[in-house]
Amino acid sequence: TEFVSANDLAALMNVSVNEVIKVCMQLGMFVSINQRLDAEAITIIADEFGYSVEFITSEDEQALEEVIEENEEDLEERAPIVTIMGHVDHGKTSLLDYIRNANVTAGEAGGITQHIGAYKVQTESGRTVTFLDTPGHEAFTAMRARGAKVTDVVIIVVAADDSVMPQTKEAINHAQAAGVPIIIALNKIDKPGANPDKVREELAQMNILVEEWGGKYQAQEVSAKTGSGIPDLLEKVLLEAELLELKANPSRNAVGTVIEASLDKGRGYVATMLVQTGTLHIGDVVLAGSHYGRVKAMTDHRGRKMKVAGPSTPVQLLGLDGAPQAGDKFQVMETEREAREIATNRAQVQREQSLRTRKHITLDEIGRRL
Ligand code: GTP
Ligand code: MG
Repeated sequence: TEFVSANDLAALMNVSVNEVIKVCMQLGMFVSINQRLDAEAITIIADEFGYSVEFITSEDEQALEEVIEENEEDLEERAPIVTIMGHVDHGKTSLLDYIRNANVTAGEAGGITQHIGAYKVQTESGRTVTFLDTPGHEAFTAMRARGAKVTDVVIIVVAADDSVMPQTKEAINHAQAAGVPIIIALNKIDKPGANPDKVREELAQMNILVEEWGGKYQAQEVSAKTGSGIPDLLEKVLLEAELLELKANPSRNAVGTVIEASLDKGRGYVATMLVQTGTLHIGDVVLAGSHYGRVKAMTDHRGRKMKVAGPSTPVQLLGLDGAPQAGDKFQVMETEREAREIATNRAQVQREQSLRTRKHITLDEIGRRL
């Protein structure tokens, strides 16, 4: 696999390697002649010499990114993937819990969501919806910053006994920036002080005109406490999804996104992965960010064992050699050797990057002490 060293870069720019190293020193980067330079370093150094850089992905990575042309007849409908966002205490966790029909809220310290996960539910009409359980919009933004596009529909929760709040606006802005359709859930409708029309009015003021007022945004009054309106909310999600014509090819190798990963004493590395297309099987070789491994076991959000996971299915996966980052892409590879090679390359690039950053900090500190 290719990489660019200080020496290579000097040759490309037709200058001596000593000049490159000198410039690096001035920038606070200590590099040796044959050290691999990361993309950021290359850009900065080249800029110093008046060059702009165009990156062409290596063959390995390129093969991974290649968009596989799917035949229309291989495509099947897949479940929509939904994220719930909204202001603090407006009822995101309660709504998710009601939908999941489990009681996570009671165990959560202070009622604040501490867990990113994902689960799949069946609606009353027998169809499937996948929910991403993220702690507010930060996870959504963080994943998007990493280039991950996982959400098909965003539900914005607004407590009907409260108002459109700063985080409501932020969440709406994030969803709009990502080009993801929005559905409004007017929650806490059971409360005596609930005034959903006031919320509709506030939304209208920020150009979110709901359907019942002639606008294009679906909205639904719900109570995460009594469950009223929730089946209708799910039907509206499915309606929105139909317009998107969400499809995937279940017969190809699985590709998806890492939702979260951590080290579990006893079980090893556990990663929550969302399969977006293809089907994941026990025994598959998975490359995820700078980690890889053979799928040892898969479970759903209730800990039930799974043998296969098709499109729009979240799984907890055992078998990776480390914890990839939320938002990292994963994909099934043909051979373990290939997966290991790419994972090792990526890990090395990351290590060098953090090493360089650390050195940079050290230099600053010395400067201050002097
Ligand atoms: P953060 O995770 O802290 O941002 O809050 P959240 O949006 O997840 O809100 P959460 O589900 O924790 O709900 C906040 C409070 O409102 C809790 O005390 C819930 O019991 C209550 N609550 C949520 N939904 C409803 C509802 O529909 N009706 C009533 N009466 N109370 C609700
Ligand atoms: Mg919560």
